[in-house]
Amino acid sequence: MSNFGFETTADEVLADQDLSGRTVFITGAYSGLGRETARAMGAKGAHLILSGRDATKLSAAADEIAEQTGARIDTLVCDLASLDSVRKAAKEAKARFPKIDVLIANAGVMAPPLGHTEDGFETQFGTNHLGHFLLTNLLMPLVEKGERPRIVNLSSRGHHFAPVDLDDPNYEKRDYEKWAAYGQSKTANILFAVGLEKRLADKGIHAYALHPGGIMTNLGRHMTEEDMAWMMDRIRKSAEESGEEPSGFKTVPQGAATTCWVATAEELEGRGGLYAEDCHVAEVDDASTSGGVRSYALDPDAADRLWALSEKLVGERFAY
Ligand SMILES: NC(=O)c1ccc[n+]([C@@H]2O[C@H](COP(=O)([O-])OP(=O)(O)OC[C@H]3O[C@@H](n4cnc5c(N)ncnc54)[C@H](OP(=O)(O)O)[C@@H]3O)[C@@H](O)[C@H]2O)c1
Repeated sequence: MSNFGFETTADEVLADQDLSGRTVFITGAYSGLGRETARAMGAKGAHLILSGRDATKLSAAADEIAEQTGARIDTLVCDLASLDSVRKAAKEAKARFPKIDVLIANAGVMAPPLGHTEDGFETQFGTNHLGHFLLTNLLMPLVEKGERPRIVNLSSRGHHFAPVDLDDPNYEKRDYEKWAAYGQSKTANILFAVGLEKRLADKGIHAYALHPGGIMTNLGRHMTEEDMAWMMDRIRKSAEESGEEPSGFKTVPQGAATTCWVATAEELEGRGGLYAEDCHVAEVDDASTSGGVRSYALDPDAADRLWALSEKLVGERFAY
């Protein structure tokens, strides 16, 4: 067991790792946690494939990370809010790259006003889950060629807000609630890891989900002052409940640590379908607001039903 925890940074997690020869694919790679994860892994010799929806921001980040780390870097434009863009990106990736050892589904959007992706899905479910569901499955031939491959889904403690409503994932029959919609998309990220693990573990491919911590990034771009006050109140109340000091925010290097841990930790070898936080595997907890993973997010039946629903919505089946 490592001594890593809340304050550990990505560089500290990777201090004893040599990632040369490993190809790491990261979505949402030009900002926040994705960018720091890329920098830290590039500094340890990984070949990086940085993906994002804005080509200009992508090449600027690639240049800067290459200068900081000397890493070999490729970029791939992919808008997760468009199934057409995801399909084009996956096709291009298969033509350009021989393998992926670590696939990090990091991109995300949080609590925007009601909106829809190009294909008519609610923005958060469509981007955070369905875009990654299609991309990950289409990239699987490259992951299958990886060595000890891992798939890492950035979820959130926000999954506590809601399970996935399998009857109305796109808010067609109920009023939109932006935090519940974020919550169901982040629960879907965990259930997707459970579904991948079930289908791919016997091929040596393992899938994980994680909460990175609370970190001030562009993710908060849709938050109002009211939202911020509500979130601070929630943090204070959950600290009171647990009798501990409020854990507060992490820095970006601390926020990228659990991703780097899940992507590389030897103690996770051969076991996936789990959810990590603060560089350890979280306990199942259906009550705490200050940590743990909800049982509904690890439920194998819900994972199967979400898999079937996702196949229906993206219009493609994936059997392994
Ligand atoms: N920060 C936190 O406190 C926190 C807490 C829990 C979980 N997380 C999770 O951590 C992950 C990374 O978030 P972050 O904090 O690093 O936020 P961030 O700085 O906003 O990064 C999110 C990235 O996702 C990209 N993205 C959004 N929509 C996209 C789309 N349609 N197609 C492709 N890329 C898209 C963004 O690109 P654009 O800039 O072009 O939109 C951005 O590069 C997210 O999955 C988030 O849910 C973060």
